[in-house]
Amino acid sequence: MLYRSASKERLFLCYSIHMRTKLLNLKNQALALIREAENKKELEHLRIQYLGRKGQINQILKSIPGLDDEEKQKLGQLTNDVKTAIEQAIKTQQQSLQKRPKKTWFDVTAPGKLPPQGHLHPISQAIEEVTRIFERIGFTRVRYPEVDWDWYVFESLNMPADHPARDEWETIFIDAPPHKKMGQMVLTTHTSNGQVREMERVKKPPIRMLNIGKCYRRQQDRTHTVMFHQFEGLVVDKNIGIPHLKGTLDYFAREFYGPQAKSRIRPSNFRFTEPSFEVDFTCTHCSGRGCKFCKSGWHEVGGAGLVHPHVLKAGGINPKKHSGFAFGWGIERSYTLKPRLNIDDIRLLYSSNLEFLNQF
Ligand code: FA5
Repeated sequence: MLYRSASKERLFLCYSIHMRTKLLNLKNQALALIREAENKKELEHLRIQYLGRKGQINQILKSIPGLDDEEKQKLGQLTNDVKTAIEQAIKTQQQSLQKRPKKTWFDVTAPGKLPPQGHLHPISQAIEEVTRIFERIGFTRVRYPEVDWDWYVFESLNMPADHPARDEWETIFIDAPPHKKMGQMVLTTHTSNGQVREMERVKKPPIRMLNIGKCYRRQQDRTHTVMFHQFEGLVVDKNIGIPHLKGTLDYFAREFYGPQAKSRIRPSNFRFTEPSFEVDFTCTHCSGRGCKFCKSGWHEVGGAGLVHPHVLKAGGINPKKHSGFAFGWGIERSYTLKPRLNIDDIRLLYSSNLEFLNQF
């Protein structure tokens, strides 16, 4: 007897839950249709469909079997709430229909509204442009790992372990066991890791490599980001010297910044080039005359130099037979110096701010 009465209660409860769900679904459906009604006639039709004597709500209520008093009361309350919500929605829609201007005519020949269309990120655009410029003079675009062995990032580039020259690279190391020969893994601090990799790939000069990739350093300010891009040029052949490097820099300056742009090289020091240079381009705001943006008429974009014999050897190339030049510049830095861009904080490029990005 106890078992039978417990099972009856459970049955009431199940019915009650089922009815409540049905009523709530009905309410959602009714509200959606009411909001889409275009005129009074449609609204009246919906009112009858849901609230009329033979309407859907009454149909549901009629199908309820004998419930106990408590469940009946709960269901009655919910029914009233649903009815009130539907009545209120009909009233609101009536008012909004009255306010809506009457449609006079509809021009079927008017062009449709185009969905908003995105575009490449400015840095992707710059990467494409840089690639096209160098491909025109015979460079091949390559990509090398952005998480690479110490050997390619430092050691093979004439920077032995514990050499103080490593300090300035603000390196982010990967927490993984080091390789016996290649050393530890790091996030590439520069695209120069592609130099020895390219020598190993091509095996025999001539080499004309353009390596573009992401780099990482523990830096963050107006002109530095933790992740940035560099493009690295490497040319190895017979009798390559500084005039070839300078000619390539001037060519790039003209193509990327405009016909008036020039390049300048200043003595510098990189372990993997000898001699080494800092590379500057004329300021595009003042055409090199000097302004508040550049101070001197020039902007520094990166480094360059003649490939160090130790690096050629590490890549399996005989420095007595071949020589080469290399350069490595920041894409962000090079891009923001373009005429009329006026981007004085490169972090904006990675801010995901569409108001900013849609300008390019
Ligand atoms: C280098 O990275 C050398 N590998 C360049 C090189 C290549 C020299 C081949 C000789 C031969 P440097 O650390 O100066 O050099 O960086 C080059 C450029 O990368 C900088 O001038 C700047 O434009 C860009 N850069 C460096 N760090 C950042 C950073 N944190 N955020 C944005 N751009 C950066």
